[in-house]
Amino acid sequence: MGYVVETIDLRAYYMLRRGSVKAVDGVNLKIGEREIVGVVGESGCGKSTLSRVLALDFIPPLKLVGGKIIIDGEDVTSIPISEARKRIAGTKISLIPQSAMNAIIPVTRVKDYIADVVKEKTGLPREKIVDMARKRFEEIGLPPIALDMYPFELSGGMRQRVLIALATLLNPSLLIADEPTSALDVSTQKMVLTTLYNVFKMGLTKSIMFITHDIATVRQIATRIVVMYAGKIVEDGPTEDLIHNPFHPYSKALMFSILTPEPEVRKRVEQTGGIAGEPPSLINPPPGCRFHPRCPYAMDVCRREEPPMIEVEKGRFVACWLYAKK
Ligand SMILES: Nc1ncnc2c1ncn2[C@@H]1O[C@H](COP(=O)(O)OP(=O)(O)OP(=O)(O)O)[C@@H](O)[C@H]1O
Ligand code: SF4
Ligand SMILES: [Mg+2]
Repeated sequence: MGYVVETIDLRAYYMLRRGSVKAVDGVNLKIGEREIVGVVGESGCGKSTLSRVLALDFIPPLKLVGGKIIIDGEDVTSIPISEARKRIAGTKISLIPQSAMNAIIPVTRVKDYIADVVKEKTGLPREKIVDMARKRFEEIGLPPIALDMYPFELSGGMRQRVLIALATLLNPSLLIADEPTSALDVSTQKMVLTTLYNVFKMGLTKSIMFITHDIATVRQIATRIVVMYAGKIVEDGPTEDLIHNPFHPYSKALMFSILTPEPEVRKRVEQTGGIAGEPPSLINPPPGCRFHPRCPYAMDVCRREEPPMIEVEKGRFVACWLYAKK
């Protein structure tokens, strides 16, 4: 099976005057065809940055510092970024950014907005783009009348589904949806998840990367979960296995919050992000394992050396010294 995306030791930092924020720092990730991968982790761990980097959306101060991104077998980091971006935007990788739903220009009709975005990427005539959009709306169960409306006339769920239609218009290899359900109520969330699942099932995108801080949501759609902590992937495995039997001490804390039935305990855990202590500074991250200052199992080696990614069971990867062979 080919990979739609593969990253090798990917590093992307926000270059600030007071130092570089190492938001994506040595990420190795492979997403295959026909996969829905959930990316989870607490606020600020680098999820959105990773999505921007994969979409080659390098707006300063974000800068690619090292590593490779291979998209559909092509190393796009070996050619100038602007060139690579032209080649992949919309067709290979399509990103629905966090809060995109609130960022659509309110005074532009939906069809004009879609025509503007897609024309810039492809140069296709506007009428053709609107025709494609109408067809796509029908395919995914959106009323085509919404094309003639203004974004403010649409509900949040409808706007999010319009964005999904737009993001899949050119049948990308990978659709990245960054927190697409966070601002929505539970029944609307369900509708958006169904739309995402349908575009996947219908083959309108080969694979999906679904970013969220909410494990309960990711569980409904993802076949595999990737856990990020402080700019790195700390665990990667099949959804239910990882939720029921997390290996990494950070994943354990994260999963505990959803598997604890008592509402009082859950509330307390959720309020603290499921774990004692603060996430580390990404300008001066702790040496060794970045989780060591908060880890109840930390050993000497954890403070000195970065743990390698270890395949503990088939398809289950964890970056933690507890699992390294002595
Ligand atoms: N434009 C920026 N300039 C400088 N630092 C930034 C910028 N955007 C994000 N960061 C920093 O990069 C780190 C990773 O942020 P990112 O937005 O990727 O996290 P996230 O996991 O998506 O968080 P959330 O769950 O809150 O969306 C954080 O420390 C954040 O403060
Ligand atoms: S490597 Fe050490 S500090 Fe890091 S999670 Fe594992 S036990 Fe804890
Ligand atoms: Mg984010």
